[in-house]
Amino acid sequence: MCGIVGYLGKRNAAPIIIEGIKRLEYRGYDSSGIAILTKNGEMKLHKEAGKIIELERSLPAPSDIAGKLGIAHTRWATHGGPTAINAHPHTCCENHIALVHNGIIENYLNLKKKLLEKGHVFKSDTDTEVLAHLIGHLAKDKYDLSEIVREALNLVEGTFGIAVIDKNDPNKLVAARRGSPLILGIGDNEYFVTSDVNAIIIHTNKVIYLQDNEIVTITPDNFEITTMDNEIVDAKISEIDWDVSSIEKGDYEHFMLKEIFEQPTSVYNAFRGRLNKKLSTVRLGGLGMTGEEIRRIKRLQIIACGTSWHSALIGKHIIENLARIQVEVEYASEYRYRNPIIPADTIVLFISQSGETADTLAAMREAKAKGARVLGITNVIGSTIARESDGGVYIHAGTEIGVASTKAFTSQVTILTLLGVLLGRMKDLSPTFGASFIKELEKIPEKIQRILDDNDKILEIAKTIKDSSNALYLGRGANYPVALEGALKLKEISYIHAEGYPAAEMKHGPIALIDENMPVIVIAPEDAIYDKIISNLQEVKARQGRIISIATEGDDKISDISENVIFVPKTIHSLQPLLTVIPLQLLAYHVANLRGLDVDQPRNLAKSVTVE
Ligand code: G6P
Repeated sequence: MCGIVGYLGKRNAAPIIIEGIKRLEYRGYDSSGIAILTKNGEMKLHKEAGKIIELERSLPAPSDIAGKLGIAHTRWATHGGPTAINAHPHTCCENHIALVHNGIIENYLNLKKKLLEKGHVFKSDTDTEVLAHLIGHLAKDKYDLSEIVREALNLVEGTFGIAVIDKNDPNKLVAARRGSPLILGIGDNEYFVTSDVNAIIIHTNKVIYLQDNEIVTITPDNFEITTMDNEIVDAKISEIDWDVSSIEKGDYEHFMLKEIFEQPTSVYNAFRGRLNKKLSTVRLGGLGMTGEEIRRIKRLQIIACGTSWHSALIGKHIIENLARIQVEVEYASEYRYRNPIIPADTIVLFISQSGETADTLAAMREAKAKGARVLGITNVIGSTIARESDGGVYIHAGTEIGVASTKAFTSQVTILTLLGVLLGRMKDLSPTFGASFIKELEKIPEKIQRILDDNDKILEIAKTIKDSSNALYLGRGANYPVALEGALKLKEISYIHAEGYPAAEMKHGPIALIDENMPVIVIAPEDAIYDKIISNLQEVKARQGRIISIATEGDDKISDISENVIFVPKTIHSLQPLLTVIPLQLLAYHVANLRGLDVDQPRNLAKSVTVE
C-alpha cells in the first residue's frame, strides 16, 4: 500500500528518495511523486500515474532538482482514481507546502467545505489534499512548520502517517503518525522518514519507531519528537539487524520464487532455538506468560486476514489436536465490528506478516479494550501489532517482498505447531509424543527442499493449466486450509478464478462446475482420511475433471486416477501443510509467469493493507 520516504541531510535528496520508494514497490501502488526543495529555494513537484519508472522518465535534469530536502510517495488509490493529479505530494493553494500521506482523513469532506468557503481551490479528489490546504491555511498566521502541522492534525479525524515540507521554513522536515506506521532513520548528519524500514535500511540501521500521536521535527543537525500536546518525547533508538540479500532478488527472476526457495531456511529459523529437547517441549519466551498462566488457557481466538487467516485455520487443527484447547478463527474485518464475546481464560492471538494490517490492528485494539490478553505472531520487528500486543512470537522469516505471501505462511504455521506442542505438553501430551513430534519437525526443512527439487516437473504441470479460466482446490482436515491457500495464490497472481473447498463438500455445489476443462488440484496425502479423499477423486474423474494430485511419496495408486501427481515426503498429519502447500505455491508462480504477468506486484493488490 502507500509508501512514504523523506530525506533531510547533506546529500541530494532526489536519488535517495526515489531509490527509497522503489524499495517500497513491493507493497503495491498505482502512482508516485516527489517534492524537492531545491538549493534555490524552489519547491519542485513531479507526479505520475503508473510505475515509478514513469516518474523517473518525467524528471528534469538532476541539476534542476538538486536539493537536500525532499519527500516521495507511492500511492494506492482510495479517494480518487490512480491519476497523476491524485498522486502525492499534495500542495496548498500557494504551493509552498508539500505533503505525503498514508491513511485516511475521515472528516475531509467537512474540512474541505470550510476551506472552500474560505476560497481554497482543490485540484484533486483526495482526502490528503485537504490536509495540505489546511496546513497552508493555518500557515498564514504562523511561521513554525511543526506548530502548524500540530494544530492541523488536532483538527483531523482518521489515520495518518505524513511527511511535510514548507518552502517558507526550508530547513525542516516534519512527520507525524496516528494509526499508520512511520519511522525516523538516523544517519550520519542526515535523517530519513519512512513508512517501511526497507526503504532506508541501506543508509542506516538506527531507527525510531514513532508512536501514535507523535510528531518529529527534523532540522539539518537535530531532531525532536513531541506529542500532539507538545510534550517532548524521549524516544528509544533501535538498531535493526539487517542482511542486504533479504531485499535483493539475487539470481531469482522474482522475489516470490526466491522466497518460495528460502523456505527450508525460513522454516528452520522459525523453530531454531525454540525446541527444548530435554523436556520434549518448546519455549516461546516472547509470550511473556508464566507456565501457570499458559496452563489456565481454556480457549484461543485467532484473528487474521488473507494468507495469515489460512495459517490460523491450520493452527486451529494443530492446536485442537495437540492441546485439546478450543480454537476459534475469524477474519479481523468481521471480528472488529461484531462486538465479539471473549470469555475469561481466552487468549486472543493475532497473526499478521506485516504487523500493520489495519483490520487486524483494529481487531486487536478491540480485544484489548475488552480486557483480553492479546498476543501477536508477526514477521516485521517493531511493527505496530508487535509493539501493542501483550506478548508474542516473531516468525523470523526475513523480509517478504512478493505480494503473494509464501515463506511467511509456512513460518506462521511452524510457530502455530510450536504453540500446539507447548500447550499440549502442559496438558495431556506425553514426553514421548513431544519428542517424536519435535524430531519430525526438524526433518521438515530437508523435506521442503526435496519438493523444491521437483520445480521443473511442477513447471511442466503449470503449462497444462495456464490457459484455464477456473480451478478448484480440494483438501480435507488441516489440508483444507491449504486448498484455500493454493486457490488464493493462483487467483492473486494469475487472475484465474480459483476456489478452495473441503473435498467432501464438493458434491454440494462445486461438482456442477466440473468438466474436461476444469483443473482440480487435490491434496491427498496418505493419512487416516486418504480413502475418503480417493472416493472424492473418483467423483471428479467420473465427470472428466482434470486431476492434479499432491500425494505422498510411494503412493502407487493415485496415478491411475490423476492426470498429474506431485509427490511430497511423508510426515505426520499436523505437519503435512508445511509440505503440501509448497507445490501449490510453485504451481501458482509458474502459471502466472507463463501468462506473462507481474508476479511480484499483481494488479490491485497491496502487500500490507493499512486501510480498512
Ligand atoms: C494483503 C496481502 C496478503 C496478506 C494479507 C494480510 O492482502 O496481499 O498477502 O496475507 O494482506 O496481511 P498480514 O500482513 O496481516 O499478514
